[in-house]
Amino acid sequence: MSVENIDSVLNEERLFEPAAIFKADARISSADTLATMRHHANEDYTGFWAEQARSEISWHQPFSTVLDKSHAPHYQWFSDGLMNVSYNCLDRHLETKGNHTAIVFEGEQGDIRTLTYHQLYADVCAFANALKAQGITKGDRIVIYMPMIPEAVIAMQACARIGAIHSVVFGGFSAESLKDRIEDAGARMLITADGGHRGGKIVELKAAADKALASGCATIEKVIVYQRTGHAIEFKEGRDLWWHDAIDCMDSICMPEWVEAEHPLFLLYTSGSTGKPKGIQHSSAGYLLGTITSMKWVFDIRDSDTFWCTADVGWVTGHSYVAYGPLAVGATILIYEGAPTVPNAGRFWDICQRHKVTIFYTAPTAIRALMKLGDEIPAQYDLSSLRLLGSVGEPINPEAWIWYHKTIGQERCPIVDTWWQTETGCIMIAPIPGAVATKPGSCTLPLPGIIADVVDENGNSINEPNKGGYLVIKKPWPSMLRTVWGDDERYIKTYWPKFGGKYYLAGDSARRDKDGYFWIMGRIDDVLNVSGHRLGTMEVESALVAHPRVAEAAVVGRPDEIKGEAIFAYVVLKGTRPAGGVDEVLTKELRAWVAEQIGPIAKPDDIRYSDNLPKTRSGKIMRRLLRTIAKGEEITQDTSTLENEAILLQLQGKV
Ligand code: WT7
Repeated sequence: MSVENIDSVLNEERLFEPAAIFKADARISSADTLATMRHHANEDYTGFWAEQARSEISWHQPFSTVLDKSHAPHYQWFSDGLMNVSYNCLDRHLETKGNHTAIVFEGEQGDIRTLTYHQLYADVCAFANALKAQGITKGDRIVIYMPMIPEAVIAMQACARIGAIHSVVFGGFSAESLKDRIEDAGARMLITADGGHRGGKIVELKAAADKALASGCATIEKVIVYQRTGHAIEFKEGRDLWWHDAIDCMDSICMPEWVEAEHPLFLLYTSGSTGKPKGIQHSSAGYLLGTITSMKWVFDIRDSDTFWCTADVGWVTGHSYVAYGPLAVGATILIYEGAPTVPNAGRFWDICQRHKVTIFYTAPTAIRALMKLGDEIPAQYDLSSLRLLGSVGEPINPEAWIWYHKTIGQERCPIVDTWWQTETGCIMIAPIPGAVATKPGSCTLPLPGIIADVVDENGNSINEPNKGGYLVIKKPWPSMLRTVWGDDERYIKTYWPKFGGKYYLAGDSARRDKDGYFWIMGRIDDVLNVSGHRLGTMEVESALVAHPRVAEAAVVGRPDEIKGEAIFAYVVLKGTRPAGGVDEVLTKELRAWVAEQIGPIAKPDDIRYSDNLPKTRSGKIMRRLLRTIAKGEEITQDTSTLENEAILLQLQGKV
């Protein structure tokens, strides 16, 4: 798709200056301070980041090289430095805030646990020793498939501590997806739980893990199982090991493994427009630095805060703003295991009230869903502890923004709309809440040191206000992805394909308004954004055609009030098309099938059967036409090249 013709229709003029009460003691409280930082960063971005890295990271051995471009676009930051991420998140706080709360945990069923930095340190060390006792060493890959409980963070931190590379797989992904990720990473170990509590039900993690392992995953030697639910599960002697047995007698001190700054901290799989999900590889020091600076600049974090990021650790947001960033700055985080509406629609606000949450960070899809339930629900709770609100995952529509601002933030809390990606590692474009006025729907301005731009097809900056173009990052930044695991070629092809390989191509289109504010307009590739989660249309198509009755499938997104985008699938069956295009039994079966192949988030919302898919003479599926139909809009495209124009009525569901 070309971005040249995208002109924005959204015209949001409201401007919200930082509230005086917030500004009064914000870390960065004036436009001047911010301008000075930006100026420094723009003049000398490597010098700027070197200073940040020296002051924010505790190094075992300081670095002398700041940025090594010799393998560009595989950039290396601080490469001769030695450090450890877990040391930076735990050990360095012990002396000054060992008794400070690190984690407040609430289970879906109401069980509450708190862990101080001392306790978290001891738990991480014991588990790290358990990993070592199982023969895990630096560089080994470990897949983590856990519910949203402190042990998920403990497992990640323990890996970081010994230099093992973790790959967290979201607990909502299926056995099939888990298997693909284990195999791609060549993982030696899987860490999981018997199950987790979500939506009033048990998520059968161990059962899914067993299924994945039964179908492949030859590299897995051991499975460590945390007992969360206590329900009956199968246990394979010799392979499976209970978490509590694994840590039994383990020392609660474990010296961190000093690793090179570039040592991979983790892989995280994310969808692209082609092929299987790619293992985004992140570094240790550069990644950590981005999470720290953004915690300070965007979230204005301090010791008195209780920071709640609602993301699951299975997504990058849960890595950067649950497992690493907040701990690296010694903050208190809240972790909630379950669904937002259990036992009732007030659960989130109830948690905010009881635990005096001060910073709340969630996704527009959740905001919209909670907004729909009405203002009376949040009105029943005392939300006066909140001081800052955040949004991430997709553009937030102005209506939801205003609701968030008024009903949840009570017009007191700035809203930080944060644009970033799995690949960028940390927040890239977002307001600095004490210094930047916000506009509903805009992620505002790039953070200091992030040289973002909107460019045309030829890589030239677009300076005309509100004209759409490609969102690019023009200079490397410390927390950027380093490569796609095992596939350098794909890394280069996906992220550096244009503009002479000089600019990082985010895959989003964007525009800038007259004040230079960025407005994200959507993806430029075949990637869907369902509830803030990325899914490749091709992934869903491959899942559908893997079903014995499906011959061909095409998947597009259509706008959805709550989810942002809903999945619309056009399916051609082997054999004849169901009469009138309706077969409810098969539709149900296909939806369940996709959930099993990928995970429930990938279930098509609509399935329409036709005799053929609309193709151009050269055989390309006419996706734009399919999108128009999915939206229920009038067809204005030229359909004369269609081999069989009669199928249009089938695609529209009219015959
Ligand atoms: C894609 C990245 C970053 C964590 C969650 C998603 C979209 C993300 C925003 C925002 C508009 C946004 C983009 C981006 N996106 N944040 N504030 N405004 N769009 O991570 O799965 O890697 O997806 O999410 O399209 O490219 P992800």
